[in-house]
Amino acid sequence: MRRSAETAGSPIARSEIITARYRIDDTVAVITLDNPPVNGLGYDTRAGVASGIDRALADPEVRAVVITGAGRMFSAGADIREFNTPKAKAEPRLHSLIRFIEDSVKPVIAAIGGGCMGGGLELVLGCHFRVAAKDAPIALPEVKLGLLPGAGGTQRLPRAVGIEPALNMIVSGASVRAAELAGTALFDELTDGDPLPAALAFARKVADENRPRKRLRDIVINDPNAEGFLQFARNTVGAASKGYPAPLKCVDAVAAAVAKPFEEGLRIEREFFDELVQSPESRALRHAFFAERAASRIPGIAEDASARAIERVAVIGAGTMGGGIAMCFASAGLPVTILEMKQEPLDKGLATIRRNYEASVKRGKLPAAAAEQAIARFSPTLSFDALAGSDLVIEAVFEDMQVKQDVFRKLDAVAKSGAILATNTSTLDLDKIAAITRRPQDVIGMHFFSPANVMKLLEVVRGAKTADDVLTTVMRIAKTIGKTAVVSRVCDGFIGNRMVEQYLRQAMFLLEEGATPAQVDQALERFGMAMGPFRMSDLAGNDVGWYIRKRRYVEKPNLVYSKIADRLCELGRFGQKTGLGWYRYQAGRRDALPDPDVDALITEYRKEHGFAPRKIGADEIVERCIYALVNEGAQLLDEGIALRASDIDVVYLAGYGFPRYRGGPMFYADTIGLYNVVRSMRRFAANPHGDPGFWRPAPLLAKLASENKTFNG
Ligand SMILES: NC(=O)c1ccc[n+]([C@@H]2O[C@H](COP(=O)([O-])OP(=O)(O)OC[C@H]3O[C@@H](n4cnc5c(N)ncnc54)[C@H](O)[C@@H]3O)[C@@H](O)[C@H]2O)c1
Repeated sequence: MRRSAETAGSPIARSEIITARYRIDDTVAVITLDNPPVNGLGYDTRAGVASGIDRALADPEVRAVVITGAGRMFSAGADIREFNTPKAKAEPRLHSLIRFIEDSVKPVIAAIGGGCMGGGLELVLGCHFRVAAKDAPIALPEVKLGLLPGAGGTQRLPRAVGIEPALNMIVSGASVRAAELAGTALFDELTDGDPLPAALAFARKVADENRPRKRLRDIVINDPNAEGFLQFARNTVGAASKGYPAPLKCVDAVAAAVAKPFEEGLRIEREFFDELVQSPESRALRHAFFAERAASRIPGIAEDASARAIERVAVIGAGTMGGGIAMCFASAGLPVTILEMKQEPLDKGLATIRRNYEASVKRGKLPAAAAEQAIARFSPTLSFDALAGSDLVIEAVFEDMQVKQDVFRKLDAVAKSGAILATNTSTLDLDKIAAITRRPQDVIGMHFFSPANVMKLLEVVRGAKTADDVLTTVMRIAKTIGKTAVVSRVCDGFIGNRMVEQYLRQAMFLLEEGATPAQVDQALERFGMAMGPFRMSDLAGNDVGWYIRKRRYVEKPNLVYSKIADRLCELGRFGQKTGLGWYRYQAGRRDALPDPDVDALITEYRKEHGFAPRKIGADEIVERCIYALVNEGAQLLDEGIALRASDIDVVYLAGYGFPRYRGGPMFYADTIGLYNVVRSMRRFAANPHGDPGFWRPAPLLAKLASENKTFNG
C-alpha cells in the first residue's frame, strides 16, 4: 500500500492504493488528489473525493473543504490507464462527482498549484471558489483527441471567463497560465507560489463570513456580441478543421451555453460527446495518443531500467544535419562539442546555427537571452581529443561507409569508456559501423529528420549488439530534447524511408499511367497528407532519391522503377533548392507552380514507352499510394524491423505529415478493413502496369486479412 509520508491522513478510497487523501486542518477538510503521475481522475480517486466530501459534510467540526493535488499537478483529467475499462464508467462518474461538489452545503474551494487539465479543470469548475498559482497551466485539451469536454466544461468555462477566451481554449485545446485569466470568475485569488495556505485562509474567511456558495452554473451569459462571435467562430473553425468534426462541435456546445438553460446545455454537451467518441477521427486521434506512449516501451526492458548519465554531448559534422542535431541538445541545456574536419565548414556550420537561433528570436519563438545561452553551450573543435569527455557522441558526416568507419575508428580511440557512440546514417549498415570499434555494444543509430532542430521524429536504430542500457538512455534523451522516438532494427531506410520508397515508386507509376504531379499531390493532400509526394520530393531534393535509385538499379536490377524522375534529375531539376523540380518555384518562395515543361517531359516519356494515358481518379491515387505504405509496413513487422504496427503509425505521424485524424497508415488500413485492402491490392496487381511483385501482400497482411484481424489488435 502506497501512502505519502508528507501527510498522515486516513484512507478514503476502499482500494489497495490510496489516490485521494483526507485530513483536517483546523476545521477545514483537505482532500488531496494523489494519483501519480498526473493525479488522473480514475475510479479510486473519484470515489475517494466523493467519500471525502461525504465525510466533511457529516463532520460538524468541518466548516469548509479544500481540494488540491499532490506533486506538480492539480490533475490532468481522466486516468488514461482506465480508458476502455469498466472502471472508466463506474459511478461516481466525473459528472456525478462534480454535482456532489457543486451541491455541497459546505463551501468547496479548489487549490490549484500545477497543471489543471481536462476533467481536472471540469472538477474545479464545479467547486464554489478557486485559488490558483499564477503560473498553473489551465487547459481543456479534449479536442486534441477529437472530443469535447464532456463533464460540463463547455457550459461552465464560458460562464466563468466569457465566450471568446473559453471558446479559444476549448477549440484549440491549448493551455494558458492561470494569470492570463485573472479578473474572471474563474479565480477568486491568485498566488505566487503554493496556493494551499491561501486556499485554507480563504476557506476560513468564507466560513467566518458565511459567504454564499458561488455556482458557475448559476451565471447567465449576457454578451451582446455572442451571436456574431459564434458565427465568426463557426466560419473560421469550419474552414480550419477541414470537416474534422470536434472543433465545430465545440463551437456548437459553447453556443448552447449561451442560448440554453444550464441543464439543457449539459444534455447537448453529452450528446455531442457521445457522438464524437464514436467518430473515426476521435478513434484515430486516441490511437495516435496511445501509440506515442507505447513507442517508448521496449519489450524485455523495464520502464524504470537504469540508464547512463548524459551530461556532455558531441556532434561530428557541422553540416545540414549535424548543426540541427547539435541545436537540439544545446536548446535542451546540454553543452555540445561540435567537430569538423576543417575550420571553414566549422565556421560555416556555427554561423548557420547562430542564424537559426536569431531567426527564432525574430519570429518571437525564443527569448533573445535563451538563444544566447544556447549558443554559449557550443564548443567548436577540429580535434578528436576534445571528444574524450563526452557521454554521447553523434556522428553526422557524409553518407559513406569508408568515411563513417574512419570516424568511428578515431572515436573508439578517444571516447571514454561507457560513452554512447551514435550515427545519424540514413541507409548504411549500423552493424558494420559498430564492428569497426572495440565496443559495438555502445553503438546505436539516431536517425534524425531534416531540419533536425524542428522535426519531431527520431528513429532509434538498435544494432545487433547494442546494449539495453544504451537503448534506454537514448530513448530517454530523446524525450529530453523533445523528440518522438521510435525503435527500428537495422535495414536500408529503417521504417520511414523504406516505406516512403514504395510510396514514391507508386506515385511515379501513376504519372506514367496518366496522372500529373499536381493531381497526385492534390489527391493525397485532400486525404490529409501535409504534402503530396511530389511537393515533398521537391522539398527534400530530388537528387536524394536519384542517388538511392542508382544504387537500387545495381542491387535489385529486377525491381521496376519509373525513370521519369531520373529524366527530371538529368535536367538538374532537384527541387526547391534549384528553383525547378516537379514544379517551378519563384525566387524566395515555396509555392509549387505547375510547369508545362514537366508535363511535356511526362508526355514524351509516355510516348516513348507506349503508355496510353488514362484518367485516374483521386480514390485510386490515394489507395495505391497509401496501400504501398501499408504493405511495406506489414513487411517491416514480418521482418521484426518495427516492434509494433502502432510504432509505424507514430513514424508517419511525427515524420511524414500523415494526418493525425487518420491515425497513421496501419491504423487507417485497419479502419478500411485488411480484407478490403488486400482485395484492392489484387485489383491493382491485375493492372498490367508496374512491378507485378509490388502488390503481393506481405505475409502478415495476407494472414491478418484472411483471419479478419487488424494490425493494431
Ligand atoms: N540531409 C538529410 O535530410 C538527412 C536526414 C537524415 C540523415 N541524414 C544523414 O546525416 C548525415 C549527414 O548528412 P548532411 O545532410 O548533414 O550532410 P552535409 O554534407 O550537409 O554535412 C556533412 C558534414 O560532415 C563534415 N564531415 C565530413 N567528413 C568528416 C569527418 N571525417 N570529420 C568531421 N566532419 C566531417 C562535412 O565537412 C560536412 O560539413 C549523413 O549520414 C546523411 O545520410 C541526412
